[in-house]
Amino acid sequence: MSGESGKALTREQWGSRVGFILAAAGSAIGLGNVWRFPYLVGEYGGAIFVLIYLLINVFIGLPVMLAEFSIGRAAQKSPVGAFRALSVSPLWSVIGWLGTLTGGFLVLSYYNVIGGWTIRYMIESLIGLMDLAAEGKSEEFFLSFISVRHQVVAYQALFLASTMFFVASGIGKGIERACKFMMPALFIILLILIFRSLTLPGAGAGLEFYLMPDLSKLNGKSVLAALGQSFFSLSLGLGIMLTYGSYLGREERIPSAATWTAVLDTLIALLSGFAIFPAVFAMGLKPGAGPGLTFITLPAVFAEMPMGMFFSFLFFLFLFFAAVTSSMSLMEVSTTFAIEKFKLKRSDAVWLMGVIIFLLGGYSAISLAGDPKVAGKDFLDAVDYFCNNICLPLGSFLVCLFVGWFWLEPALKELSNDGTLEARWWLKVWIWCVRVVAPIAILIIFLNETGLLTTLDAWLSR
Ligand code: TRP
Repeated sequence: MSGESGKALTREQWGSRVGFILAAAGSAIGLGNVWRFPYLVGEYGGAIFVLIYLLINVFIGLPVMLAEFSIGRAAQKSPVGAFRALSVSPLWSVIGWLGTLTGGFLVLSYYNVIGGWTIRYMIESLIGLMDLAAEGKSEEFFLSFISVRHQVVAYQALFLASTMFFVASGIGKGIERACKFMMPALFIILLILIFRSLTLPGAGAGLEFYLMPDLSKLNGKSVLAALGQSFFSLSLGLGIMLTYGSYLGREERIPSAATWTAVLDTLIALLSGFAIFPAVFAMGLKPGAGPGLTFITLPAVFAEMPMGMFFSFLFFLFLFFAAVTSSMSLMEVSTTFAIEKFKLKRSDAVWLMGVIIFLLGGYSAISLAGDPKVAGKDFLDAVDYFCNNICLPLGSFLVCLFVGWFWLEPALKELSNDGTLEARWWLKVWIWCVRVVAPIAILIIFLNETGLLTTLDAWLSR
């Protein structure tokens, strides 16, 4: 990142286009790809979920990302300020508020808990996890870990502390440096894992589960879950990509930056599936094991590899870094909020927010062992559901309405760099997506799954 340049109004900008893509991909690629995606695939019927997820990424996720980048670069502000600056109605800044509360606090609070798991697994890889996994006890290990509350909380705190450290050191240094080499490293280990997983006897059934869609498993729940996962994984709907866009230089091309980010993110998610499902079936584990799926399956695969201990350690180390670059992007939101609202120093803001997030996340951490429950779900699941199936779709819906119906011309200028990029067919497709396809799809999926559609239907046919 180059520092402030001479002109008073220039905002800090990313040093290079690659730097920007790596940072955006650093926010996008994280636990969402390696932890959340595979377990949802397992829970919602395999290949059919993958297929819907891909369609949603292309026709809803990518268009929303283009919209967020455009708003950010045009406004050069944080989410709340951006909507104030670009629209006459103050109502739109609700998107910024929603993003701050949901992303900066709620998502981050339980993200730290799962992030803590990666630290535990990194350490355990070196001291006996492989032996247990070789005896087929990786599931037992996972269940006993999450049932010991003070351990889960301790690891949560450790993960949060790492995030706080990076965020306190400032956006440029922390984020960019960490992203540059961790992502390729994670990618390479995934490839090695996939090779081992695919060559296990009985891996075929897993491939079939992952790649052959079974239409009978299609239902409203899986579609809503895929929608939420698309936004979660691409870091959308909360103004985070909007903030990143505000650091993007005027001469950069938004469409290619967004496409690269989305493609890399999707690729890592798909590869995680290829590493996990063949092994799940080969080893007689359950694809619907829930949030523990990745943590139960992968150690078992590592245990089947030469130097498994070493690879397992590296894998969880890189996953930890991928998760930290994502949680930094979330923490940046609450930190900026505290700096602007309470006029705090950056380091004080990080401390204050850190404490709040720790307390909030603590409920999620201890809920893994039983209580507290909300609406029959563990607290962690409930917060996750609320964020991903309600707040993210709502935020993205509003972004589409704003850009598609109230801010289309300026957005087109941003996307085409003031008309200097050739207007191509995709710009027309994008317009259709943000104006019509995405908002209507989000609305139907949401209303349908939450039962509101049936209520509405009953009411209308009275
Ligand atoms: N995308 C990240 C992941 O897949 C998580 C994340 C970072 C996120 N920033 C976000 C999710 C903003 C929703 C909104 O792990």
